[in-house]
Amino acid sequence: MFETLQAQPADKILALMAAFRADPRDTKIDLGVGVYKDATGVTPIMRAVKAAEKRLWEVEQTKSYTGLAGEADFHHAMRELILGDTVSPDNFAAAATPGGTGAVRQALELVQMASPEATIWLSAPTWPNHPSIIKYLNLPMQEYRYFDADSRGVDFNGMLTDLSNAKEGDVVLLHGCCHNPTGANLNSQQWQEVADLLIAKKLIPFVDIAYQGFGDGLEMDAYGVRHLAKTQPEMLIAASCSKNFGVYRERVGLLMAVAQDNAKTELNQKTLAFLNRQNFSFPPDHGARLVTMILTDSALRADWASELEDVRTGMLKLRKQLADTLRKRTGSDRFGFLADHRGMFSRLGATPEQVEAMRESHGIYMVGDSRMNIAGLNEASIPVLADAIVEAGV
Ligand code: LMR
Repeated sequence: MFETLQAQPADKILALMAAFRADPRDTKIDLGVGVYKDATGVTPIMRAVKAAEKRLWEVEQTKSYTGLAGEADFHHAMRELILGDTVSPDNFAAAATPGGTGAVRQALELVQMASPEATIWLSAPTWPNHPSIIKYLNLPMQEYRYFDADSRGVDFNGMLTDLSNAKEGDVVLLHGCCHNPTGANLNSQQWQEVADLLIAKKLIPFVDIAYQGFGDGLEMDAYGVRHLAKTQPEMLIAASCSKNFGVYRERVGLLMAVAQDNAKTELNQKTLAFLNRQNFSFPPDHGARLVTMILTDSALRADWASELEDVRTGMLKLRKQLADTLRKRTGSDRFGFLADHRGMFSRLGATPEQVEAMRESHGIYMVGDSRMNIAGLNEASIPVLADAIVEAGV
């Protein structure tokens, strides 16, 4: 049997992680995988997570299974964090999943069960694992224009034009905030126009939100998903706590289905639980419980939000420093977009050859499409990166 296996294409982000580890140069700079790092290159455990873990150790009485869809407290805390008061609990179904990727995968499986003919529309570009999972599930997919290579902003007209070609019932995958890999995001007005188009064309939004709090703050970053929740008859949301709670390896995710209808919500809830059972039975609990404790305890929540805000403003500072350094090096403002982008990533707009040249000569690791993890920078590496960008002729 095993001899019939075909080698699967390597995931570019994971391959880059391995290449970085294997590089012996101690001057190397990791701008690859989307993991937050502080100025010393460490991915810290957030203070509130540590405190919640200590408390949990003291009070936890059992490691028996959690509910099949996870704990209701977790669902509600996440609903409030992401959706505010835009959705009544009666219209909300949810299941805890192993990470945001688990939620993405099961959202797509739900689409496959409910509407196998639906095309999934993806932004060009998107997180590479989106098309990879869709291809694996054999679902129809198509791209909509999103990133304007010249301005490094959103090609909004292109996006609306392409989405207006979608057929009724198609699913549109949108990044809730902090677009991965580009860093270019919709503004409030654009979210409203997208929402209107979805209604007019009877399309179903599927929001992947993995960086809430990393862009313009916890509330602003939820503007788009909340506006859709208020205006759309149905939607799917895949949320990750990996980044904003820094609990990457605990695998904390939530799949949410919003429907303006009670009967649909009941069926959605049963379907989400069924999908958990088929894929892995009970979801992991430890990380979800920590997140719940933090969100429902005012002191822990305040401390978490304040640390997250420091992370966000620290990344904004790095963005500005890099844009300023490049302004000085090039005598132009053509890298000003780096300060305008939001979230952990920016797409620099370098060719694969230029990306390769920066890796060869300076040990700078960014994804081949020139996605940079801004959190991988610090005051010392910014001038090195700016020099490498200029030298590579970007
Ligand atoms: C990324 O985009 O680098 C992260 O979301 C990590 C991953 O799993 O790819």
